[in-house]
Amino acid sequence: GTPLRDLAAARGKVIGTAVTGSRLTGAYADIAGGQFGSLTPGNAMKWGSVEPSRGTYDWAEADQIVAFAQAHDQQVRGHTLVWHSQNPTWLTNGNWTPAQLSGLLQDHITTEVTRYKGRLAAWDVVNEPFNEDGTYRSTIWYDNLGPDYIAQALTWAHAADPSARLYINDYNVEGVNAKSTALYNLVKSLKDRGVPIDGVGLQAHLILGQVPSTLQQNIQRFADLGVDVAVTELDIRMQLPATDAKLAQQRADYRSVVSACAAVTRCAGVTVWGFTDSDSWIPDVFDGYGAATPYDENYAPKPAYDGIAEAL
Ligand code: XIL
Repeated sequence: GTPLRDLAAARGKVIGTAVTGSRLTGAYADIAGGQFGSLTPGNAMKWGSVEPSRGTYDWAEADQIVAFAQAHDQQVRGHTLVWHSQNPTWLTNGNWTPAQLSGLLQDHITTEVTRYKGRLAAWDVVNEPFNEDGTYRSTIWYDNLGPDYIAQALTWAHAADPSARLYINDYNVEGVNAKSTALYNLVKSLKDRGVPIDGVGLQAHLILGQVPSTLQQNIQRFADLGVDVAVTELDIRMQLPATDAKLAQQRADYRSVVSACAAVTRCAGVTVWGFTDSDSWIPDVFDGYGAATPYDENYAPKPAYDGIAEAL
């Protein structure tokens, strides 16, 4: 059949996948390069990966993924610059003043964004800033710098690469709820202030049979603020073992997520968080769950693959 990336391109959308650099060989590379029009490094661009000790950088995996993407005529989504998780221990264990932390964050953003300047379509600048009730998450950034760390991060990223689309990314913001409404209000106020915010990322780590009924409406309300929307980390987990009935439901669920994006002009596209069940974070983190991606462990397309194709 026609590769997903070509089906998406014909609709003005981009279909992407998260990847692990060390696996970009053989069948994994063939599918990543052949089926997808965008790559997101699953871990390689996180602060703890790129600067494991202070001032010592390791760009090997990130560079490899960007080079692979360029060789396969793919976009790259940078992920992620400002987060509470997967930070280096030298940073989280340090005893920093707010002014020092602000300087460290500015340096980090400037260094990393400058390295890939002009080569990345988008950056997930700030990841997971909200709690479920719509209050700001307590993090090293919020606790020390206050809520304006978000505007500052976006401003620094824009200065380093004015061509990258700058996103705020979060989970459980796919439907209309307290958390997505807090994100909506933040984006509105950033736009009003002239802060460079270009997009909202809906992670979409979903559970089988639980695609929010307000997904398309929610995408549309962000689009109406004048920002792009992307589904950035789609997976749909099920309780193991997988059965034919569950895989059929998963096909319908993938189809409805991709359809919701396809229906909104400003929805840029959908990225799956790993394309194969052998490269998925789900079994490690959600006990008893798995089979969350569109290909099985042996790289055979699952019904979910057809659900994506049908929606494009
Ligand atoms: C996950 C990776 O897939 C795992 O390999 C890693 O151990 C933990 O992080 N939200 C995000 C992603 O924004 O960065 C996370 O990725 C999954 C949840």
